[in-house]
Amino acid sequence: MEHVDRTAPDSGDWAVEARGLVKTFGDNRAVDGVSLNVRAGTIYGVLGPNGAGKTTTIRMLATLLRPDAGLAHIFGHDVVKEPQIVRQLIGVTGQYASVDESLSATENLVIFSRLLGLGRKEARHKAAELLEEFSLTEAAKRPLKNFSGGMRRRLDLAASLIAQPPLIFLDEPTTGLDPRTRNQMWDTIRRLVRTGSTVLLTTQYLQEADELADRIAVIDRGRVVAEGTADELKASVGRSSLQLRIENPQKIETARKAVEQVLKVQSAVSPEGAKITAPLADADRVTDLLIALRGAGIQLTELSVQKPTLDEVFLTITGHGAGEDESKETDKSDRAGEVRR
Ligand SMILES: Nc1ncnc2c1ncn2[C@@H]1O[C@H](COP(=O)(O)OP(=O)(O)O)[C@@H](O)[C@H]1O
Ligand SMILES: [Mg+2]
Repeated sequence: MEHVDRTAPDSGDWAVEARGLVKTFGDNRAVDGVSLNVRAGTIYGVLGPNGAGKTTTIRMLATLLRPDAGLAHIFGHDVVKEPQIVRQLIGVTGQYASVDESLSATENLVIFSRLLGLGRKEARHKAAELLEEFSLTEAAKRPLKNFSGGMRRRLDLAASLIAQPPLIFLDEPTTGLDPRTRNQMWDTIRRLVRTGSTVLLTTQYLQEADELADRIAVIDRGRVVAEGTADELKASVGRSSLQLRIENPQKIETARKAVEQVLKVQSAVSPEGAKITAPLADADRVTDLLIALRGAGIQLTELSVQKPTLDEVFLTITGHGAGEDESKETDKSDRAGEVRR
């Protein structure tokens, strides 16, 4: 892919270095001392549920919001003191597409291209190429107000690819997308990094972070609660993970106490309240646990021992799930807005 070559100046190894970022809205500390290091040429995932502070963090790193405290450097440039340099090094695609409603997809991309200095013919060519890549060719002539959320997201990412910047922020790039489009998006993100960009993406999807990210920061209530590679995060919750589902959800606390006493670990209860997850160092203890549970009059409907997933990591670290309800809602609204062909 042809793109304007703007290599990062004197960047050292770090695309992002953030220390103790804070942003308060009223008495809500939306971002409460976030520190992140993103190595150039990698994909970094910021994983957390709705309201965790992901967008606010990105907005500060992208010079769109001034931090109340803390420091952030993008390729060595201070976001507060050198915002105009930082802006030349980054691309931001929002959770909501930043495109003009009344214009068609083609017109939007051509305008972006012209703004970035491409000639008229080149801009048309680039727009057509990107629309093809994102399977938007068919809808390209329609005004955007008829686009679904998923189509907008694709167009938004397409727009950010016109001038592939050294650092790309993707705020929940696949929330609400159907699986096929999500896979397409993942391929595009991987290609961005292969061709020299660094990507910082936020996600509510553990699987997405696991698939894509070289390193992951788990963020909850404005704080980084864990950081590392997907494997490191998984290892931090033990070699294997025990999952129990009980018949009577009202006994969940009793069951949980038994698990914690016998296994001598912290456990987590799933959002729907019937599943307990706990790290398991020694499989032999399961026998003791079953005896204890029977003694406490608790009936199991399911018991399994698995390798931990990032889901368990999240549950174990934060004590709650990662925004399942919200993603369902987004799916619904996306479908409602889908263009009928
Ligand atoms: N402009 C704003 N004004 C007031 N509160 C905000 C604003 N932006 C975000 N918040 C609040 O800050 C918290 C973090 O929001 P956000 O960064 O959007 O989280 P996420 O992107 O992880 O869902 C939430 O409680 C949200 O309501
Ligand atoms: Mg957000």
